[in-house]
Amino acid sequence: MSDENDTTSSRGHWGSRWGFILAAAGSAVGLGNIWKFPYITGENGGGLFVLIYLACIAFVGLPIMLAEIMIGRSAQKQPVGAFRKLQGKDTPWTVVGWFGIVAGFIILSYYIVVAGWSMDFALKSVLNFTEPVEKVATIEAKSFRSTSSDDQLRSYLAEIRAKHQSRQEIESIHRSVKPSVWEMHSIWQEVLKKQPTRSFSEDPQLAEAVPLAQSKIAEKARVEKRSLADALTHYQQMDIQEVSDEAEAAKRREIIAAKVGAIFGATASDGWTSSFWATLFMAITIIIVAGGVSRGIERACKILMPLLIALILVMVVYGVFQPGFEEAVRFVFEPDASKLRPSGVLEALGHAFFTLSLGMGCMLTYGSYQKTKMGLGKTTLMIALFDTVIALLACMMIFPIIFSYGQEPSAGPGLVFISMPLAFAEMGAGGLLLAIIFFVLLVFAALTSAVSLLEVVCSYLIDEQGWPRKKAAVTVGLACLAFGLPSAFAMDSGFLLESWESGYSKNFFDTMDHLASNWLLPLGGLLIAIYAGWVMPARLRAAEVEDMSPLLVSGWLLLIRFVAPALVLVVLAQKIGILDINELLG
Ligand code: PFF
Repeated sequence: MSDENDTTSSRGHWGSRWGFILAAAGSAVGLGNIWKFPYITGENGGGLFVLIYLACIAFVGLPIMLAEIMIGRSAQKQPVGAFRKLQGKDTPWTVVGWFGIVAGFIILSYYIVVAGWSMDFALKSVLNFTEPVEKVATIEAKSFRSTSSDDQLRSYLAEIRAKHQSRQEIESIHRSVKPSVWEMHSIWQEVLKKQPTRSFSEDPQLAEAVPLAQSKIAEKARVEKRSLADALTHYQQMDIQEVSDEAEAAKRREIIAAKVGAIFGATASDGWTSSFWATLFMAITIIIVAGGVSRGIERACKILMPLLIALILVMVVYGVFQPGFEEAVRFVFEPDASKLRPSGVLEALGHAFFTLSLGMGCMLTYGSYQKTKMGLGKTTLMIALFDTVIALLACMMIFPIIFSYGQEPSAGPGLVFISMPLAFAEMGAGGLLLAIIFFVLLVFAALTSAVSLLEVVCSYLIDEQGWPRKKAAVTVGLACLAFGLPSAFAMDSGFLLESWESGYSKNFFDTMDHLASNWLLPLGGLLIAIYAGWVMPARLRAAEVEDMSPLLVSGWLLLIRFVAPALVLVVLAQKIGILDINELLG
């Protein structure tokens, strides 16, 4: 086998062209696609953000990915050694390699925490799937102040309806839930009786409401051939029904939340649970990396990637038949400039690096395990396309469910771990089956990416320090796990929701994510672009792109030399505060 000597210091290689493509796609497709992309799309109002993201992938991501694979393949070395080899001497460019190692270590440390939650949610879905939801909910509901089983819900709703027979009750609910409507009715009654006791025309809101009520009631009277007074009473009753529906819906939401609590329990908010799952996830990652390039990583990706695609397709097909599907399509594909946050442009570019595993030498390392020359342009395009299609499909499996089950698309990082479980719980037992599929696919996606992150750091120790692969995988994995523990505890005691809602990086987890995605990856990407475009010996570069058409090569050079660096510089300048893109865009 190609990496039979993986346990010694000699380098491993991919077994086949498809092995490389699947492994690289496995690295690219991860939590970034299924957890992060849908929620940042939701926060940025969909459509236009997606368009900008696609442009970032095409004009920045694609050329830099080609550059990374090219450097790795040409040097046949991991990031630290690659620049030295290509320059033929010690060079400051080696720093780029070190950058990658540090970034990989940092990303992996919190990546395993999120991946761990997915494992926890997947297992809990499996366990609860065999138990009727009501039973689970009733048992756990003891600690929750509301009733939780479906039977109890039904009787509660009947109670509300019965209560609503009492006029006083209705009026009090009415007043508390919809004071403005109630005001409108009472004033309208005065108008009707032609005994106005208040000068309602002084209140602009009421002045606006009265003609509206007048016209609605007059219309109702005309259509239903009732007297005005009769129409008014009827209209009020309809409104009361609406209020009682609202009260029911609120109660229902409360009960669903109790069910989610009952099924999934505390995960992110419990540091010990988070650490346990992060440890387990890291152990699996270590085992795969220790297995070697082709027998570990390639084999895992060959099994997990097709399964991942199949599971995503099942979810998307389910989504297509949901009532919220059309709204989801409109949300994701219809550009609406008013919904985009100005910072969304920067976010889109930063995410392009994260999702394509760029800027930290990951694609460089994977490229270095390619023995044979294979169409560089075509392969790169295929990997980027694959990643993009999966990100869009992830939106098409998440948003139809979010819209169909009354959840908010802009829920932030909790979209996958809070809003989706809420929707699953609302669906009943079938929802748990979907939850199993959903969280299992999240784990698979995370695993093939985590493996690539660990591999970048290990490859340095194996290639440059002559460590045996197994020793490198275990040592780095454990060190990274230790470094990740503060992230696992960062959201203990309900800190999670607070920090997510405010959207600020205050805790360790957020700080690490911010540092890596917003600083290290773009900076690493910028340096790689400059190196590939301006510094790499032209002879070596030409040898790598010889199977691409001259026009494509020129196009790539234009992007890698000018466009990509310029765009990344704008982002970094904005971050340092030299440039205010909000002002620039008005
Ligand atoms: N691309 C991965 C994702 O989208 O989840 C994350 C990642 C993996 C980033 C490997 C960087 C990397 F080197």
